[in-house]
Amino acid sequence: MFPTTSLCFPFCVTVSTLPVPSTAAEKVNAGQCGACTVLLDGKPIRSCRTPVSSAAGKRITTIEGLEQDGRLHPVQQAFLDNEAFQCGYCTPGMIMGAVALLTSNPRPSEQEILRGMQGHICRCGTYQRIVAAVEQAANRNG
Ligand code: FES
Repeated sequence: MFPTTSLCFPFCVTVSTLPVPSTAAEKVNAGQCGACTVLLDGKPIRSCRTPVSSAAGKRITTIEGLEQDGRLHPVQQAFLDNEAFQCGYCTPGMIMGAVALLTSNPRPSEQEILRGMQGHICRCGTYQRIVAAVEQAANRNG
């Protein structure tokens, strides 16, 4: 049973109803995959592990909040340009993690990208394309 007090309540409930093995379902709400990453006052957090009470009065940015005036965020566009996803399960969290990384380090090296994106798991194994997308977004930083 998933608590209704975490930031990702609707997401976790949706995921928990998918026909996945119970061992996978048990990992939801455990902060292990990074798929539910959002920004809390600009810092990446696992929403499944974040009590609603700790977000009170803070700015929450979700994947939906990145687009501005109908234009995708450069990281979103880079993920599309590089086809940096397969099933898309991990993609929102990956993008939010990349946005946070590029905010703190606008021109990361490949090693810094790999380190910065640690903890984000892609079961489809699109890591090379994800790194390419983050590099492309970084190059757009000037
Ligand atoms: S694209 Fe499927 S888990 Fe990452």
